Amino acid sequence: MKNQIDRNLSPHDLPLKARQIKAGGMTAKCLDINIKTFGCQMNVRDSEVIGGLLARAGYEITDDEEKADIVIFNTCSVRQMAENRVWSAVGNAVNRKGVPPIIGISGCMANNYREAIFEKAPAVDFVVGTADIGKLPEIIKEIQKHKGSLNEKKIYETDAEFREDEIYHTGFRLDKEHAFVVISEGCENFCSYCVVPYVRGKLRSRNAEDILKEIKADVDAGISKITLLGQNVNAYGSPVTGHRSPVNFIELLKKVNVIPGLKEFTFVTSHPKDTAIELFKAIAELDKLRKYMHLPVQSGSDRILKMMNRRYTRENYLNLARSYREIVKGGELTTDIIVGFPGETEKDFQDTFDLVKEVEFNAGFIFKYSPRPHTEALKWPDDVPREEKERRHALILELQRKISKKLKA
Ligand code: SAH
Ligand code: SF4
Ligand code: F3S
Repeated sequence: MKNQIDRNLSPHDLPLKARQIKAGGMTAKCLDINIKTFGCQMNVRDSEVIGGLLARAGYEITDDEEKADIVIFNTCSVRQMAENRVWSAVGNAVNRKGVPPIIGISGCMANNYREAIFEKAPAVDFVVGTADIGKLPEIIKEIQKHKGSLNEKKIYETDAEFREDEIYHTGFRLDKEHAFVVISEGCENFCSYCVVPYVRGKLRSRNAEDILKEIKADVDAGISKITLLGQNVNAYGSPVTGHRSPVNFIELLKKVNVIPGLKEFTFVTSHPKDTAIELFKAIAELDKLRKYMHLPVQSGSDRILKMMNRRYTRENYLNLARSYREIVKGGELTTDIIVGFPGETEKDFQDTFDLVKEVEFNAGFIFKYSPRPHTEALKWPDDVPREEKERRHALILELQRKISKKLKA
């Protein structure tokens, strides 16, 4: 994570190279599939899930994009830049030398644009939504059957509301030591700038038994470190629409902590509005739980926090940060910040700057506001000029760099 600040990757992100699926599966002669992952750790895990389902269906998963018969782009919609990167990668695949591959789009852009993807990129053969990935083997079979014939097909499946838990249990893992384990899917916080609730659906908590079963299988396969994943992990199991588990987040942490053979675990991402002192106590007390917390603040201005629909104040956040430092001795605290939100004044920005100075995060991931389809913030003009966003971005980045350096010394 140390050198990620420079590249401004959030802990949701991994370096691009590490994201390409490397493992092979089948020995029989079969079609090669390359999966390219964009976006957050949730997508890294989803690519593994896709790889597992397709390996089980008899395909070979390859990291050789040039030779792959099928290329799946597992995409991200969080900022415009993320989408631009996907489109240019799709363009490269379409224009590669020799026979062009079958091309599929999965992930958040699939839900964001659905069949409109075929208009934007006519070479795309199939589009599969975030909750529809279980249908991939079937979809690919169907595409292959008709590819090159007169009745070539385009398929899109983007309407599923939940995933069958079974897709998480293929045992397909890319890393021998560390595994991502999804504990909840979706998000219903509707922060006004964020596309995630529209592309990932309502919050659904997986059953604790299924999660524990998955982790135990990973540990049996030699994995010793786990990261529990969710858009808002500390809302896990709470009584919201679609929840299926009677276990709350802290209870889940306690259950994971006693899995024999597991050495260390952590979780991302927490929302300040659902974070309380009990969680800090759990971090301090559970011996296998990493003394680390990623707690995105987004802004230090009450006015902007309100417009963002974050449902906490600057004071609430500062109190949380203070308690964390007190309770989790020597623990790390990291954050995400958005600069240039609609209507952000110099004073609002100063409030954020001062908060960063006061809290002294171990690392901060600073983003320039990017208007997103469907979101509430779209109705406000994106009125902070690009150069001003860049100035504010650079100022906080520089401040955070100094703080991170100081804390490491
Ligand atoms: N569920 C997580 C991750 C959300 S996406 C969370 O709540 O923290 C990761 C980060 O991207 C967010 O924390 C936010 O800082 C940033 N982000 C989300 N939407 C954005 C947008 N429209 N423009 C700029 N940054 C954005
Ligand atoms: Fe987006 Fe907010 Fe949900 Fe995070 S908590 S995924 S920022 S809506
Ligand atoms: Fe993740 Fe990007 Fe989707 S951050 S949840 S892949 S929009």
